Amino acid sequence: MPGAPGPKGLHIATFGCQMNQYDSARIAGLLAREGYAQMDQPQGADLIVINTCSVRERAEQKVYSYLGGLRRLKAENPGLLIGVGGCVAQQEGARLLKQVPHLDFVFGTGSLERLPQLVAEAQKGRRQAFTEPRPPDRPQALAPAPAPGLKAMLTVMRGCDNYCSYCVVPYVRGREQSRPVAEVLEEAHALVDAGVREITLLGQNVNSYCDPEDGRDFAGLLHLVAGIKDLWRIRFATSHPKDLGPALMEAMATEAKVMEQIHLPAQAGSNRILKAMGRGYSREDYLALAAELRRRVPGVALGGDFIVGFPGESEADFAQSLSLLDEVRYDFIYSFKYSDRPFTRASSLDGKLDEETKSRRLVTLQERQREIGRQMHRQLIGRVEEVLVEGPAQKGQGRLTGRSRAGRVVNFAGGPELVGRLVAVRVAEGKQSSLLGSLEQRERSEAS
Ligand code: SAH
Ligand code: SF4
Ligand code: F3S
Repeated sequence: MPGAPGPKGLHIATFGCQMNQYDSARIAGLLAREGYAQMDQPQGADLIVINTCSVRERAEQKVYSYLGGLRRLKAENPGLLIGVGGCVAQQEGARLLKQVPHLDFVFGTGSLERLPQLVAEAQKGRRQAFTEPRPPDRPQALAPAPAPGLKAMLTVMRGCDNYCSYCVVPYVRGREQSRPVAEVLEEAHALVDAGVREITLLGQNVNSYCDPEDGRDFAGLLHLVAGIKDLWRIRFATSHPKDLGPALMEAMATEAKVMEQIHLPAQAGSNRILKAMGRGYSREDYLALAAELRRRVPGVALGGDFIVGFPGESEADFAQSLSLLDEVRYDFIYSFKYSDRPFTRASSLDGKLDEETKSRRLVTLQERQREIGRQMHRQLIGRVEEVLVEGPAQKGQGRLTGRSRAGRVVNFAGGPELVGRLVAVRVAEGKQSSLLGSLEQRERSEAS
């Protein structure tokens, strides 16, 4: 009906890490108050917001090609507004407006709460970029996700002060800033009241969390969140090895709601490269941590990140990354080819490696991990895993899917009444990236 003020359509395209997914939920919450309803597709939207990542060159390129694809939509519907937020927005600021004529506004990683204002001004034809450094966190600036499901993310700290030599994150996310415990708990309670049963606490460096008011550390925060009734499971990411101490291991070992899973990126296995990366730990430190975790948190699943082809990485250095995989025996890893990023120290180092060498090393690393992952999965056959049932399995066949305490995908046959519940599943088969099992008659009762 022309002229009717019905809800306006908003499409959010999210690139990058879980922090961006969390921010996208806040963007949806903020704009819902302005009368925008979220749509899955950009076609037909009144407003498109792109939440961007710049951690590697390819991630940044994806943003530009996505933006290029929107040119036609804008031509068809001149009333369409397009805004770019996130890490590329913070990095490029007003340059983006110059480069992309069909772009209406740009907002940085600390400017989310400016969004309604930027949209209103863009409607009046004002093209602008707002990338001021982040204001201090204020509870009223937070808008929780409009319709959370069974699982939700909760950012407890933002930014990063580590300045690893290859990484753009500290430049685009700003200084490390923890949210006060009270604010985190308030948000966690709201999520649980809305039906959430599993919360993942997020931070670039989540285990260096420190309450700005009373100095409580991350382990202390975990104990408090674990006290929330009707919350069943807590996960957290990402942990930095240099800040992983006994208190966190203790919390993982003693709090039943804290899952036996940790994402603990090593990045490399050679001490020379670790030093050049500025990671703040040695190979030996890392191995000692992994061993201690395995001892204190039985069944813990370890995840990692690796970069291959850091400037100056020799074949011998790379072999050390491979042997670290063998020694640690990760459940899974994310691995990347080194990519030059703006502002970073590594981008001006000598000894850059060619694409072919980086690609070859990446394939070798991934093959080695695939075999380790298979072996790890085989070891689980016959074990009974507690699974939070999320819904029908992707490849169907009447199966359900969920995750084990250690975060592994488990598929099994069962009825839809089990969705949203904790069940016991006996593992029968280990696939590449999931486990196949059967429901145990004896069901686990939900914890509270
Ligand atoms: N804060 C987390 C990771 C943030 S970025 C941590 O320190 O562990 C996610 C991953 O991207 C990093 O762990 C790293 O493996 C990878 N990464 C970051 N910068 C990169 C670069 N310039 N080239 C290739 N990979 C990079
Ligand atoms: Fe980047 Fe290092 Fe900070 Fe992780 S800890 S976000 S890799 S600078
Ligand atoms: Fe990417 Fe920014 Fe996350 S650079 S990895 S979206 S913090």
